Amino acid sequence: MRRLLTNAFGDEGEVADLAEALAARADQRGAALIAEHGGTVVGHVQLSAGWIDADLRLVDALVLSPLGVEPAHQRSGIGRALCHAALEHAHNLEVPAVFLEGDPGYYAPLGWQRGSAQNFTAPSTRIPDPGFQVAILPCWRPWMVGAVVYNDTFWTFDRVGLRDHGS
Ligand SMILES: CC(C)(COP(=O)(O)OP(=O)(O)OC[C@H]1O[C@@H](n2cnc3c(N)ncnc32)[C@H](O)[C@@H]1OP(=O)(O)O)[C@@H](O)C(=O)NCCC(=O)NCCS
Repeated sequence: MRRLLTNAFGDEGEVADLAEALAARADQRGAALIAEHGGTVVGHVQLSAGWIDADLRLVDALVLSPLGVEPAHQRSGIGRALCHAALEHAHNLEVPAVFLEGDPGYYAPLGWQRGSAQNFTAPSTRIPDPGFQVAILPCWRPWMVGAVVYNDTFWTFDRVGLRDHGS
C-alpha cells in the first residue's frame, strides 16, 4: 500500500503516512479497500470518519481519501471500481453522505456532485469549491446539510485543502 500510494502520488510517502494514520483510527465506520492484481496491491482507497454539522444534530458521514492506483494499472477501471466499492460500504453502514476533495472531471461521472450546490460547507476555505465533492446516499435526508467536519487526523497531517507555498 505504501509503495503504490507513493508511486501514484509521486511524493516522499506523505500520502502513505496519512493513509496509515487514517487506517489506525478506531473509527467503526472507517475502512481501507484494496484492489489486487496477481497478488500485488495495485489500488487503495481509504474511508474515515467525518460529520455533517446539521441544525438538528451532528450526523455521521465518511471522508474518502486517499484514493490511488499504481501508475502502470491506471486507466483500467480500478479507481472507478474502488470508488464504487467505497460507496457500497458507506451505504451498507447507512451513512448518508461521503465527502472528498478531488477533480470533478474525474468524480462527476462516478456520481459525485459539488458539495456547495447541495448546501454543504467545506471544512476549509482552502478547498477550491469545484473540488469539494459529495456522494449522496439513500439514507440522506434534506435536513442533513451544514458544515462538513473532518476527523483530526487530516488536521494533524495538515492535509486539508490547498496551501499557497508562494514566497
Ligand atoms: C485518479 C486515479 C485514482 C484514477 O484511477 P484509475 O484507475 O486510473 O481510473 P479509472 O480507470 O477507474 O477511470 C475511470 C474513468 O475516469 C477517467 N479518468 C481517469 N483518470 C482521470 C483523470 N485524471 N481526469 C479525468 N478523468 C480521468 C478514465 O478515462 C475513465 O473514464 P472512461 O471509462 O470513460 O475511460 C489514478 O489516476 C491515481 O491514482 N492518480 C494519482 C493519485 C490521485 O490523484 N488520486 C486522486 C486524489 S483525489
